Amino acid sequence: MSTHHPTVLVVGAAGRFAGLVVPELVRRGATVRGLVRNQAAAAMARGRGAAEIAIGDLRDPESLDRALAGVDGVFHIGPAFAPDETGMGLNTVAAAKRAGVRTFVFSSVIQPTFTPLANHASKIPVEAALFASGLRYTILHPTNFMQNIGAAWPGVLAQGVFAEPFPKTARVARVDYRDVAEVAAIALTEDRLAYGSFDLCAEGMPNREDIVAIMSDVLGRPITAGEPSFADWAARASLPLDADQKRLLALVHGHYAAHGSGGNSLTLRALLGREPRSLRRYIEELAARA
Ligand SMILES: NC(=O)c1ccc[n+]([C@@H]2O[C@H](COP(=O)([O-])OP(=O)(O)OC[C@H]3O[C@@H](n4cnc5c(N)ncnc54)[C@H](OP(=O)(O)O)[C@@H]3O)[C@@H](O)[C@H]2O)c1
Repeated sequence: MSTHHPTVLVVGAAGRFAGLVVPELVRRGATVRGLVRNQAAAAMARGRGAAEIAIGDLRDPESLDRALAGVDGVFHIGPAFAPDETGMGLNTVAAAKRAGVRTFVFSSVIQPTFTPLANHASKIPVEAALFASGLRYTILHPTNFMQNIGAAWPGVLAQGVFAEPFPKTARVARVDYRDVAEVAAIALTEDRLAYGSFDLCAEGMPNREDIVAIMSDVLGRPITAGEPSFADWAARASLPLDADQKRLLALVHGHYAAHGSGGNSLTLRALLGREPRSLRRYIEELAARA
């Protein structure tokens, strides 16, 4: 087995976030096998650099056994707000053990022990399974993704408003998932992150007033901070979530309203050996693309 040029199964290789891990792995000489559910997703994963495709389902352990044959490492991310997210994670850990995989990277969430949020609590059993698995694990605890702002960007340009359904004064740490992807790829191609659990946050805890100030500066026109109700915001965002999943997402925003969401950039800076990508840089890139 080659540790530094491993074959890595990437769960969700066609997805918005795991899809960012694929090019980082390829850049480091890994061979990526993308786990996808259908041929359309296979084409997307190949477009991101996956050399191999495994059609499989996290709910189907036999398909995971096939997908993991001959694999050195696994990147796993749980589908957001899936009611059986825990079971899918446990399936992946168990299949990785059966396959004799060496390294398992789990993209979890910041503060998984904040159990009033179901999408945090659902990650705890997966982390516990890794601790007891004998696998060489690395667990990533990313905060709120800057890419959520990217999803809202067309509306920002069209309406001149950046809206999120919690107070504009609530401070929330953010991270560019490309930095998380880079850490994941380091963990899968080098030894230095083995058996670590790492909080991953960019510098600062901006509130929405800070964010629209950056947007206004970068765009050269005023952008205001919207505070819609969750229902109005969800309707406008046309989220691919059912009613129960929306309820769980609303709890996250309720948490932000009550407490904000703290995070510290020290670990990410140390892991990358450079400054984490900043929110300003992310917004500048969005503006350059428009
Ligand atoms: N958004 C944030 O700010 C934030 C912050 C911290 C942590 N997180 C965590 O990050 C994760 C984000 O998940 P996401 O869904 O939004 O990301 P995503 O990148 O869209 O990943 C979901 C991927 O999983 C695949 N998938 C779904 N069900 C599957 C199944 N049964 N079998 C195989 N593959 C399956 C999907 O493939 P298909 O294309 O086939 O559906 C998709 O590619 C969540 O665990 C969330 O808690 C999010």
